[in-house]
Amino acid sequence: MSDINARMEELRKVIRQHEYRYYVLDEPLISDQEFDKLMRELVRLEELYPELVTPDSPSQRVGGEARAGLSTVVHRTPLLSLDNAFSLTDLQAFDRRIRKAVESSYMAELKIDGVSIALVYADGMLVSAATRGDGLLGEDVTPNVRTIKTIPLQLRTPVARLEVRGEIFMPKSEFVRLNREREEKGERVFANPRNAAAGSLRQLNPRITASRALAAYIYDIIHIEGENIDTQEQALAFLQAQGIPINPAYRLCSSIEEVFEYCRQYEEERHNLPYEIDGAVVKLNQYGPRQELGQTAKSPRWAIAYKFLAEEKETIVRGCELNVGRTGIIAPTALLEPVSLAGTTVSRASLHNFDLVRDKDIRIGDTVVVHKAGDIIPEVLRPVVEKRTGGELVIAPPVHCPSCGSRAIRPEGEVAWRCENLNCPARLIESLVFFASRDAMDIDGMGPALMEQLVARGLVANIADLYDLDQDTIASLERMGPKSAANRIKAIENSKNQPLHRLLTALGIRHIGHKTARTLTGVIKDMESFQTITADELAQIPEIGPKMAESLVSFFREPHNLAMLERLAAAGLNLEETETTESGGPLGGQTFVLTGTLESMSRSEAGEKIMALGGKTGSSVSKSTNYVVVGLEPGSKYDKARQLGVKILSENEFLALLYESGA
Ligand code: IVH
Repeated sequence: MSDINARMEELRKVIRQHEYRYYVLDEPLISDQEFDKLMRELVRLEELYPELVTPDSPSQRVGGEARAGLSTVVHRTPLLSLDNAFSLTDLQAFDRRIRKAVESSYMAELKIDGVSIALVYADGMLVSAATRGDGLLGEDVTPNVRTIKTIPLQLRTPVARLEVRGEIFMPKSEFVRLNREREEKGERVFANPRNAAAGSLRQLNPRITASRALAAYIYDIIHIEGENIDTQEQALAFLQAQGIPINPAYRLCSSIEEVFEYCRQYEEERHNLPYEIDGAVVKLNQYGPRQELGQTAKSPRWAIAYKFLAEEKETIVRGCELNVGRTGIIAPTALLEPVSLAGTTVSRASLHNFDLVRDKDIRIGDTVVVHKAGDIIPEVLRPVVEKRTGGELVIAPPVHCPSCGSRAIRPEGEVAWRCENLNCPARLIESLVFFASRDAMDIDGMGPALMEQLVARGLVANIADLYDLDQDTIASLERMGPKSAANRIKAIENSKNQPLHRLLTALGIRHIGHKTARTLTGVIKDMESFQTITADELAQIPEIGPKMAESLVSFFREPHNLAMLERLAAAGLNLEETETTESGGPLGGQTFVLTGTLESMSRSEAGEKIMALGGKTGSSVSKSTNYVVVGLEPGSKYDKARQLGVKILSENEFLALLYESGA
């Protein structure tokens, strides 16, 4: 027992030292995995010997909610929550309590449905960003928040200290994009933008956060030194002047009825906003009266949340349709008794995957509760079990592809079932639709209905066939006249001039989306070069991982694909990158020297990124060096930089600079 006690004491000590090096000094000695291993050993021993757990153990500080890896931040001012109002009567009761004690106007704001964040700026620099946690202890997400482009890393007019609160959220469009991408990869989808924002923010790897377009609105100044602020109106103006994002949809109201009017207006308009809101927040405008009213343990007395009702409806599942996507994923869609929901009539809802159908136990014939995820995507939330009659049918995973009949396969580690037949007609139609889509070749008017007919009639069996179509053929299809056929032909003709990155996207190569295609054609400027480049060479390009490299190489070695590319070339398609990035670039004229090991990327990757932004890298430090980027265990270049007074960047600062520069 004393051996065990000694080991636990040692683990606690070592973990504390590593935490200090990681979080305070920003100079970790061991990898995250090694750190996690130590923490797991400690937690396991503590589970076995609960009597030996000490209150100051690092496992206790991390608490049940925080994951090993993100450190804890103590909020100097706790993050409170708000009482709720659901009606004008509730608002009027709030108003009476206020009016009994003080005089003030109200500020009405939108209640953004995201994740609360506490930011601290010291001497004008962003030094800390923490999640709410339990209100007293939050998680340190500073490196992640630094990747959110709209949050300034520096104030325009620095003040000694500024502590603010706000909301980090995922715009609806990004939520839809991310879930679509996840679904295509056979990964689990996020239930709503709030979960997606929380998941993206609480990543151990800031690069993942950076790849998701998070946004933020700041709504409160908690503490400020070096500036006088007396009202919420002034606070919002001050934040805006500092370049801090605020939601412009606020309204100063002189009566609670006016506040209610604001709430009603946005309850109507919420579906037109680019982000999700779950209500409005009403606050006293003046700080003086706020102070007088004070707060309870849980919430301030000077503010209240007006909550919108969650938009949910009941309807009946009439059937389940299986759709085969371009990548072969077979996805179930519920066919619903039409129901009006959040501004549209809903008759279909994606069930995402068969694990979800099983877990939620959704059956054909069930009465179900539906809503719109992210205010956009219709979803079945749950069956109303009490309404079952016994005649409902269980929805089972597919045995065969519903389009071509080949065996359905579930690859290991994926939630999706797939048709792996590359010639499957359903996959072909989806690939053609994708080829013509906005982000790809942008061929107007070539949607699913048309492509389906073209494939069904044997007119198109491959992308290249699209360029052999003539006006008469298209005019002979259903719902097509000579005029619309002519427009389609013109659109197809125009698409021949699209830049290479669009064609590369349009080919639908696995793991190569629009963004990656752009990165690639920034370096590889013509289609021919893709046919000879090796996976190793591709992997040298920043942002191109081994999976992408492998996928590209196998695509460009496949004889059918090469034959198709040849036909595209013969049809006169542009095979060169014509849309070039600007010369100069945001880091134009700046010289960087790198020393030590970087954690988030290799040194050559860092070099490529600097060059892509117009900067240069040098091998030795001189007076003309602009920045020295210092990784783990830096060499003599670090000392030289200090001697010469050259600006030194930690890895985090370097990442922030890259993101600021648009990498
Ligand atoms: S003021 C004392 N204003 O709603 C708390 N909160 O319980 C003062 N929220 O999770 C909060 N938009 O993060 C305020 N314009 C807004 C807000 C807002 C969203 C969130 C907040 C917290 C919850 C309030």
